[in-house]
Amino acid sequence: MSSKQYFDEVASQWDEMREGFFSEAVREKAISVANVKSGRLAADIGAGSGFVTEGLIQKGLKVIAVDQSEAMLAQMRQKFAGRDDIDYRVGEAETLPLADATVDYVFANMYLHHVESPAAATKEMVRVLKPGGKLVITDMDEHAFEFLRTEQHDRWMGFRREDVERWFAEAGLRHVRTDCADEECCAESTGGDEQARVSVFVAYGEKSRAHAP
Ligand SMILES: C[S@@+](CC[C@H](N)C(=O)[O-])C[C@H]1O[C@@H](n2cnc3c(N)ncnc32)[C@H](O)[C@@H]1O
Repeated sequence: MSSKQYFDEVASQWDEMREGFFSEAVREKAISVANVKSGRLAADIGAGSGFVTEGLIQKGLKVIAVDQSEAMLAQMRQKFAGRDDIDYRVGEAETLPLADATVDYVFANMYLHHVESPAAATKEMVRVLKPGGKLVITDMDEHAFEFLRTEQHDRWMGFRREDVERWFAEAGLRHVRTDCADEECCAESTGGDEQARVSVFVAYGEKSRAHAP
């Protein structure tokens, strides 16, 4: 089963699943690290059913929500029906459906560990940031819970923070830093014999005002 098929399949249950995995503390941390300003435009990459998007529109931002899964975006459309501050776009990590230098912020929560090349996906997210724009990624620290790969379609078993910092720097970001998101991602294997508790990091960087696309 492909990652897209997996997320299409779980889309209608994702909100409930997500609540079991991690809490609103993750998005609060991501949003506070970016110091977002009302009225600005953000992209939520790997938006799923709109967990981060919801936090952003509550702060008065407009959001372009991108995901490979039409079913996830359909959940979002249903949840936020009638709002005109969200633009839904089906798209892939390597070729985001956004023009160069168009958004003030890019957020990606629990997305990076699903993509084929985290370094290339990071570069692509930086491409769409305006000069001075901010990238904030929240994801799991490196772990050894194999069942997250076999049962939940994770591709990467979390990340070392120094690798994420390097990808940010190589993509041309400055003021790069990582920190604890003060949250753990929790999951139980389907057999109930293993329980994962993995710390979550927040990674931050700013695109230089003189950044060449
Ligand atoms: C674990 S979910 C997280 C969803 C949401 N950000 C949240 O916090 O609830 C990962 C999301 O990333 C999307 N995704 C995974 N790989 C992708 C890719 N290569 N391109 C675009 N979206 C992808 C999935 O479809 C899924 O909706």
